[in-house]
Amino acid sequence: MAPVRVGLVGCGFSASLHIEGYKKLPPEQCQVVAVCGVPKQMAEDFADEHDIPAAYGSMEELLEKAEVDAVDLAVPNHLHAPFIIAAAEAGKHCLCEKPLTGYFGGPDTKDDELIGRAVPKSTMLEEAKREVERVIKAIESAGIKFGYAENWLYAPSYVKLWNLAKAAGGTILRIEAEESHSGSHAEYAKRWRSSGGGSLMVKGSHPLGAALQLKWWEGEEKFGKPIRAASVVCEVGNLTWIDSFTKEPTHYVRTGWQDVEDWGIIVVRFEDGSVAEVKAGDTTLGGVHNYLEAYLSNARLRANINPNDSCVAYAPEGTIFEPEYISEKIETKGGWTFPSPDEDWHQGYPQEIADFVAAIREDRQPISGAALAREVTLVLYAAYVSAEEGRRVDLGPILA
Ligand SMILES: NC(=O)c1ccc[n+]([C@@H]2O[C@H](COP(=O)([O-])OP(=O)(O)OC[C@H]3O[C@@H](n4cnc5c(N)ncnc54)[C@H](O)[C@@H]3O)[C@@H](O)[C@H]2O)c1
Repeated sequence: MAPVRVGLVGCGFSASLHIEGYKKLPPEQCQVVAVCGVPKQMAEDFADEHDIPAAYGSMEELLEKAEVDAVDLAVPNHLHAPFIIAAAEAGKHCLCEKPLTGYFGGPDTKDDELIGRAVPKSTMLEEAKREVERVIKAIESAGIKFGYAENWLYAPSYVKLWNLAKAAGGTILRIEAEESHSGSHAEYAKRWRSSGGGSLMVKGSHPLGAALQLKWWEGEEKFGKPIRAASVVCEVGNLTWIDSFTKEPTHYVRTGWQDVEDWGIIVVRFEDGSVAEVKAGDTTLGGVHNYLEAYLSNARLRANINPNDSCVAYAPEGTIFEPEYISEKIETKGGWTFPSPDEDWHQGYPQEIADFVAAIREDRQPISGAALAREVTLVLYAAYVSAEEGRRVDLGPILA
């Protein structure tokens, strides 16, 4: 079989993680043959750096000029839906970063409009649902392979946790999961117009997806059908808007969130009565804080996605380790730290890429696919409705 030819759409932070995953695969299985980005120069620089033969200034141009079997969408959230649909219509397999889609305003919304403060979350949920169904329909009618780039599903500690849960066979009673750090680097994450939400959307989608998937698999394993989310309650906040915080002379966490939350918690109740507590924040110091804990009737399991302590280091001053990478988003290399020997691997990035390519070659859907992508987006928007209206939201009609 000929190698899968991939066009990388985007050349920023996430694209850099993805390209490393492709490089780990043998060229007879897969080749990244083109990249695009805005501005085009960015794509050209990325192509030079990673030895990619062609660079374009738009996805349209890439689809028109490059011979690709698949596209990998590592672009801001508001571009996911139109780009997935364009890829599907062109018959290209598609891997897309989270979230699948969301609400980013209407055709008349101006770029600087703070829709996160103005548009009711119930309207957002309705619109997001319509958009989700449009995307799913495009994927299904094109018959393409669709990978939802939820790296948590491929993180070795999460995979092991699920294998242990399966072996234990007990009921997963409660899940607690979080993704937090000191604040997203990307400017688009600060505004609803381009991110579709705040901490819960940008970070919480990972622990939420991982929790939903565990109960889904548990149901399939025990009853031959998934255990799905039944209702949500949610609270969100802007901790960096607290008066005393704004007056502090130095801020170690990122600030400038315009109309999106910088902290949130969702409690999901599942059909069988079990629960998941999902947290996300942009106000957490000490590096990336990503974990999932599962409380079973006969076992307790914890996946430390980042940090993990396979290597532990101490230095009395941060400068001592200066040339060496420690781990994502830590503020200092001084004191005790948890240097990651292979952070991408611990977080499941190369495994996610390998699964997408293998799925195309083996004519199957990737492990993380459209069903999970749909569920995560809809549960998130239902959660925003819960936070705004101060009530439990029934997911039955939303996920139907
Ligand atoms: N799985 C993860 O851990 C993870 C981490 C970070 C980001 N993400 C996701 O990755 C996606 C991208 O985020 P990022 O942090 O890499 O952003 P980024 O700002 O670093 O990069 C965005 C890229 O999109 C390109 N782009 C923008 N508009 C474009 C257009 N019209 N056509 C083609 N390319 C265009 C830009 O050239 C840029 O290279 C987001 O959906 C985000 O949610 C996932």
